Amino acid sequence: MNKRWGADCAAQETGSRLSTGAENRFPETQASGVGKVIALLNQKGGAGKTTLSTHLAGEFARQGRRVTLIDADPQGSALDWAQRRLQSTQGRLYGVIGLARDTLHREVPQIALQADYVVIDGPPRVAALARSALLAADLVLIPVQPSAYDVWATQEMVSLINEARVFRPALRAAFVINRRVVGTVIGREARAALADQPFSTLHADVAQRIAFADCVAAGKLVWEVSPKGAAAREIAVLAQAVQNVLGDALEESREVTR
Ligand SMILES: Nc1ncnc2c1ncn2[C@@H]1O[C@H](COP(=O)(O)OP(=O)(O)O)[C@@H](O)[C@H]1O
Ligand SMILES: [Mg+2]
Repeated sequence: MNKRWGADCAAQETGSRLSTGAENRFPETQASGVGKVIALLNQKGGAGKTTLSTHLAGEFARQGRRVTLIDADPQGSALDWAQRRLQSTQGRLYGVIGLARDTLHREVPQIALQADYVVIDGPPRVAALARSALLAADLVLIPVQPSAYDVWATQEMVSLINEARVFRPALRAAFVINRRVVGTVIGREARAALADQPFSTLHADVAQRIAFADCVAAGKLVWEVSPKGAAAREIAVLAQAVQNVLGDALEESREVTR
């Protein structure tokens, strides 16, 4: 943590809390399918898990990849979005499955056999379900809003990923700054604060843009509303950053992680 936003006492507290009790143990089975599995996780609601999940899945589908989105949030927001989409004139881009169960890690490998990418829209709480998602994933993306509170709150997820790495040393993780307010320095400050964490922050920030909120009710994605808009561009850059981390880029591009 940097000086301005510093204070990482929460980490120690949650670290010990995470490693006690049967409910807090990682299940034994672990996953490795054919398609790459990307889990969007952060116990903070409103960080952008669903927004980035639906858009990343859409971007991969747009590339012609086979994509399945798993809604692992009992609230079912991604399923709601997909339902809206079905009711509209928008074509089907990818399948959305509701699977908010802590057996995710056992079911995802089978799903990954039929897909190039499986994107998991994670639950809001750090619990058995989030642990299961971690065991299923090749890459965990942690969307973070650029506020001190939100940066502090990532400690719990960082501890959980570190625990998961005991079982899965190859598990990758990265932060994504979402809802950065254009024209302010707060995004840069968040990036500086996250620099002390053990995972990198993708050089692919997503700004606070009304287009993202507008898309939800219509069951759309930002590039369907404004193909050349800034929001669509940011999502394309994010998708490429993710593919670079996974060593899965369609074409060689600049290094986007540090
Ligand atoms: N980059 C963004 N710009 C504008 N609104 C956003 C952005 N990201 C998320 N939102 C909005 O914030 C709310 C919460 O986002 P959501 O993706 O549902 O978060 P989570 O799944 O982590 O709870 C939604 O109303 C969504 O439309
Ligand atoms: Mg959500």
